[in-house]
Amino acid sequence: MSDILIININELVQITDRTVLKFSGQDMAKIRTIKNAWLYIESGIIAGFGNMATFDRFSVVKQTPDLLEIDATGKMVFPSFVDSHTHLVYPASREIEYIDKIRGLSYEEIAARGGGILNTARRLKEMSEEDLLESSLKRLTEIIQYGTGAVEIKSGYGLDLEGELKMLCVIRKLKELSPLTIKATFLGAHSIPLEYRGHQTKYVDLVVNEMLPRVAEEGLADFVDVFCDKGFFTVGDTERILEAGLKYGLRGKIHANELDYSGGIQAGVKFGALSVDHLEYTGEDEIEALLHSDTMPTVLPGAAFFLGMVYAPVRKMIDAGLPVALASDFNPGSAPSGNMQLILSMASILYKMLPEEAIHATTINTAYAMGLSHELGSIALGKKANVFITKEIPSYEFMPYAFGSNKVDLVILNGEVQTTD
Ligand code: NIG
Ligand code: FE
Repeated sequence: MSDILIININELVQITDRTVLKFSGQDMAKIRTIKNAWLYIESGIIAGFGNMATFDRFSVVKQTPDLLEIDATGKMVFPSFVDSHTHLVYPASREIEYIDKIRGLSYEEIAARGGGILNTARRLKEMSEEDLLESSLKRLTEIIQYGTGAVEIKSGYGLDLEGELKMLCVIRKLKELSPLTIKATFLGAHSIPLEYRGHQTKYVDLVVNEMLPRVAEEGLADFVDVFCDKGFFTVGDTERILEAGLKYGLRGKIHANELDYSGGIQAGVKFGALSVDHLEYTGEDEIEALLHSDTMPTVLPGAAFFLGMVYAPVRKMIDAGLPVALASDFNPGSAPSGNMQLILSMASILYKMLPEEAIHATTINTAYAMGLSHELGSIALGKKANVFITKEIPSYEFMPYAFGSNKVDLVILNGEVQTTD
């Protein structure tokens, strides 16, 4: 691995002290940058940065013969995006249901007919682990090109022991094969299989008594998730699963309040969830509960946009002093894109977030939501060198502003330049 020196950076964006683990409230709008900067990466770690005017090459650079020097004139350097909520291991796209949606069926109506998550679960059974791995690797390659450096991936399309283990084994292989930093979340309680409809407690029994112990025993998951919402799992189900997860050292990262004031946010807070995600239905009580917690409120703009939902009250949340994270929710049903640059744009366009708030929300706050903000999510000495160099852009505000095009030019993960082919 060669060390890397990047010089003449138009602006080095999102610098923090290593001790800062998240940004909340008014601090979300404050960002540290250095114009006309350099950045030095040694053995995969951010080892130095500063202003070109005071750059002293001989005191900074180790005399390694294979130093890679990059001139970034006109370009910016950002920490890689951290995408803390995805379902990117899946067997097939669902554009046919999307047509049903265009014709007016709701997400819940499609789910109630055995479509949605259950549709994907059926397809998963037919697909081999190898094919699942191959298609997921392609999605990882794509998100790397858009600037993602770390990603959380959920199970949840297995919905029985065998299927859930299959998904988690694929995620374990992805961890081995991909340069991305990956965390795995066990989401056995994603949907109620048809045969358990009317007695879903029996399915929760299965999740708690059979799936979770096996997943934990094999070390296949870092976190546990439940879809706590109207028509899916109740607060009682959710609390049982979160409590059981904690016994195995798995903190919650749960789906909550996407379809209603489900009580999911409070349940997550009560059991010390690392994050509660979606949050379209967030009122005063939910904000109050979150204010007294270590739980990261995480909003998923892609899903709200794609499903035409109400938008989470992000401005209210930040103005109340909360941190907010934004992730892609990359999945075949409600968010068929893992492009975090688009999420950055949606932050401003749909949620009226300032560019600085959006950058924090997609980097350090999502890193927090994966338990990784001590090593990722900002430019800080000693952090892992997951960064990208942009194309020539006039300002960092241009990143959310110019939606739809890929502004990433070169990706560095673990201190290594990534080639796209
Ligand atoms: O986060 N809300 C629940 N689960 C996913 C959707 C998964 C699917 O439809 O396949 C979500 O939006
Ligand atoms: Fe999701």
